[in-house]
Formats: sequence, structure tokens, C-alpha cells
Amino acid sequence: MAEGRLAGRVAIVTGAASGIGLASAELFAAEGARVLLVDRHDADLRSALDRIRARGEAEVLLTDVSADGAGERIVEAAVEHFGGLDVLMLNAGVHGSGATPAERFDSAIATNLRAVYLGAEAALPHLRDSGGSIVITASIAGGVVGFASPQYDASKAGLIGLTRHLASRWGRYGIRVNAICPGFIETPFIGAGWSAEKLAQVRGRTALGRLGTPEEIARVALFLASDDASYVTGAAIVADGGWTIHFTDH
Ligand SMILES: NC(=O)c1ccc[n+]([C@@H]2O[C@H](COP(=O)([O-])OP(=O)(O)OC[C@H]3O[C@@H](n4cnc5c(N)ncnc54)[C@H](O)[C@@H]3O)[C@@H](O)[C@H]2O)c1
Repeated sequence: MAEGRLAGRVAIVTGAASGIGLASAELFAAEGARVLLVDRHDADLRSALDRIRARGEAEVLLTDVSADGAGERIVEAAVEHFGGLDVLMLNAGVHGSGATPAERFDSAIATNLRAVYLGAEAALPHLRDSGGSIVITASIAGGVVGFASPQYDASKAGLIGLTRHLASRWGRYGIRVNAICPGFIETPFIGAGWSAEKLAQVRGRTALGRLGTPEEIARVALFLASDDASYVTGAAIVADGGWTIHFTDH
């Protein structure tokens, strides 16, 4: 029997091939969970699987979370491989792309918000059985302040409302639903095309004077996923090194 804070649990992590999802899947596995890694990027997903199997038990599902029926396919895959579901980390996210404002808005909402809602709905019958936990990766962008893009901020703000709604409605089943609002985290999602000046500016605007690591967000996800957070639901936990509370150079 595996040991750890998620011993005996089954977890799904979307966007698990990179960044925050990869670090979370790895930590969940190290803490005893059997983990289904979900991503749309095949090569990265395969290397993530190799990495996580060094720490524990894992399987993969290659899918775009915004595709029709993806929520059901993801949940079915976890139940088929591992026999149940306890932890659902809905983490896959995009900036939103397209040639027009309408395309960019629709693409961000489809992946960042609609897929999260449909994934949670698909998991409900299994999470009811296990009294499980849902962890949603939102952002300080939209979740607390508005600085990224209309589509990104709107989608992430929507996740906070969704978190509160599901936590309120599903608490009766013992299901907890929480969001994380990361600040600037060193992943391919940000910074890839950023100048040294821009990165220095972000560091200077952050109370702790640095960007965060994916592992630091994974530890927040582990807290929310585990029994350590047994009385925490409907929360949106900011993990931003103090970016949103730091306005002066005092
Ligand atoms: N990095 C940051 O500073 C930061 C800050 C706040 C919030 N976030 C959020 O954290 C989450 C993870 O971001 P990250 O920084 O680890 O980025 P990342 O680019 O390192 O990882 C994101 C992963 O999600 C996958 N993905 C994206 N869209 C998908 C889809 N439709 N279907 C399946 N997989 C998909 C990508 O292939 C990638 O592997 C996102 O929701 C992002 O909005 C990131």
C-alpha cells in the first residue's frame, strides 16, 4: 500500500504535460496517488509519463479538454484504469488565440472555463462516491485583478464564480471545490518571449522579489486535494509571492 498524503487516491490532472500540471501530477504520485495525466501535447505527455512513473503509478490520456465529450472520456479513463476517482485537478489553460476578438474569446472560454465546468459535471457521480476534491487552476489575472487579456481575465474570473457555485451546491456530497490563483510562475506559459527587462519588472513588482516555481503551486494543489484541507471549500487561494498586495517600494 502506497504511503503519503494521497495514499490510495485516484487523481486526474489536466494540462499535465508541462508546468504547474506536471509538477502537481508528480507530487500527487509521490504522495501515493495513482494519476491520470491528460494533455493535448503528445510528445510532452509521453515524457511526463516516464518522469512520473519514476515516482509512482500513472497513465495518460491524449485529448483536447475542450473537445466535445472530453470530460466524460477523461473521467471514464481514470475509472477504467484505477477503479474510481478522488481528486480532479482542472488545470489546462490557454491565453486564447485566433484572428478576431470573437475567436480569441471563444477559444479561451472553451478551454479555460467551459471544459472545466463540463469536466467537473462528468466527475460528479464518482466524486459523490468518494467525497472527493476538485482543484481548479485560476489566476490572479481575472481572479483578483485584470491585466492579461479580455478573454483570459474573463475566463479566469469565471472560474472563481464556478468554484463558489460548485462548492456551495456539492458540499452536501462531501465534495470540496477550490481554486488556486497563481501569480507569475516560471513555466512555458509566461516568459518564453519576454525580455530580461520585462522579467526584471515582474520581479520588482513582486513582494518576494522573484517568480514562483511550478512546484510551489503544486504544493498548494496538494494541500487542497488532501485531507489537510478537509474544511476548506469555495476558496480561491492566491499564491503570487505578494504581487497583488505590493504597490509601493517601502
Ligand atoms: N504560469 C503562470 O504564470 C500562470 C499564472 C496563473 C495561472 N496559470 C494557469 O496555470 C495553468 C497551467 O499553466 P502553466 O503555466 O503550467 O502552462 P504550461 O504551458 O506549462 O502548461 C499548460 C499545459 O496545458 C496543456 N493544454 C492547454 N490547452 C489544452 C487543451 N485544450 N487540452 C489539453 N491540454 C491543454 C498544454 O499542452 C500544456 O501542457 C493554466 O490554466 C494557466 O492559465 C499560469
